[in-house]
Amino acid sequence: MDDMNWTRPNWRCDTEQSDYSPEETLVYDDDVKADTDHLYERVKDVILPEEWPAHAPLIAAINRLKKERRAIILAHNYMTPEIFNCVGDLSGDSLALARMAADVEEDIIVQAGVHFMAETAKIMCPDKTVLIPDMRAGCSLAESITGEDVAAIKAKYPDYPIVTYVNTSAAVKAESDVCCTSGNAVQVTEWAAKEWGTDTVILIPDEFLARNVAANTDVRILTWKGACEVHERFTAEDVEVLREGHPGVVVLTHPESPVDVVKAADYAGSTAGMAAYVKNKQPAKVVLLTECSMSDNVAVENPSVKFVRPCNLCPHMKRITLRNIYDALRYNRHEIEVDETIAARARVSIQRMLDLPKPDSPAQFDKDRAPVDVELV
Ligand code: 13P
Ligand code: SF4
Repeated sequence: MDDMNWTRPNWRCDTEQSDYSPEETLVYDDDVKADTDHLYERVKDVILPEEWPAHAPLIAAINRLKKERRAIILAHNYMTPEIFNCVGDLSGDSLALARMAADVEEDIIVQAGVHFMAETAKIMCPDKTVLIPDMRAGCSLAESITGEDVAAIKAKYPDYPIVTYVNTSAAVKAESDVCCTSGNAVQVTEWAAKEWGTDTVILIPDEFLARNVAANTDVRILTWKGACEVHERFTAEDVEVLREGHPGVVVLTHPESPVDVVKAADYAGSTAGMAAYVKNKQPAKVVLLTECSMSDNVAVENPSVKFVRPCNLCPHMKRITLRNIYDALRYNRHEIEVDETIAARARVSIQRMLDLPKPDSPAQFDKDRAPVDVELV
């Protein structure tokens, strides 16, 4: 972990110049104040009053542009609080965002998240315009594997189903049998083993997710050596130090973290799972060992819970700002395109996942099950 004494990281850049030349001047005047005061009331515990005048004119302009352009903003749980709470229309974990994208009625989807999420939205809604405010918003897991890699795995293990994490490119999804997210990885793995009539499933590309799934199922798992650059950095020692420094703190983490971190934590689940845990259990003191903005967004909903703040930043998620969301809506930047032949095959993998019964609550990783051996393909 970078810094156990948390201070707000300096990722904000709304005051930066736009890459384009907006013809309208955005200022914090009385009209903007009147339009946005109710939104500040919502986020006042996580955004300093000095920061608000830089955000408010963009928030007012984005909310106006959304109406004018019949657009909707899908916001992942890792978006900064001014995006998540003040311009996001629908929000959630990757699974929820994929489900929501499939049902959108608006003409334009702006993905406030990373590229694979926008690509998933485009695959599910080929007739809509899908925009991502910054094309460079990638993901270390999506970077770790290509469609050719998956085709080679398939050739080597033709009898085993290939379950692919949604944090991958359309080309990888196209070569796969079914997708999963952290919210349903055990469910999808067990479904695939049954459907293909095998005792073994190939679950790629996140080695840690695969190891955590393997500890929660009797299905044998083969995996790939990919990792999330945010979660792989947490250690079991971090958890120990947190517990010593903050007696009674409840530790939540994500299944992209190493197995010993999941075992040392009190709960591991998807970002929606972590948010639901805090909402339902209202722990006095909690730490979310995940991306930094999660705590701000969960804190907005749970004012009586105290948040201990160690976290790691996702540089890809942090590429999305109010400024580039505004530019996206104003200049139709940057449009996601997916080759229809690839999209058609990728859609099958995503749809198989979406067709599985929706669990009543997000999947929880049982930290008390013994780790099992997982081979790399
Ligand atoms: P979730 O599906 O849990 O939201 O995770 C997405 C992600 O990028 C986690 O690092
Ligand atoms: Fe990818 Fe990790 Fe960032 Fe999520 S947090 S987008 S898995 S690098």
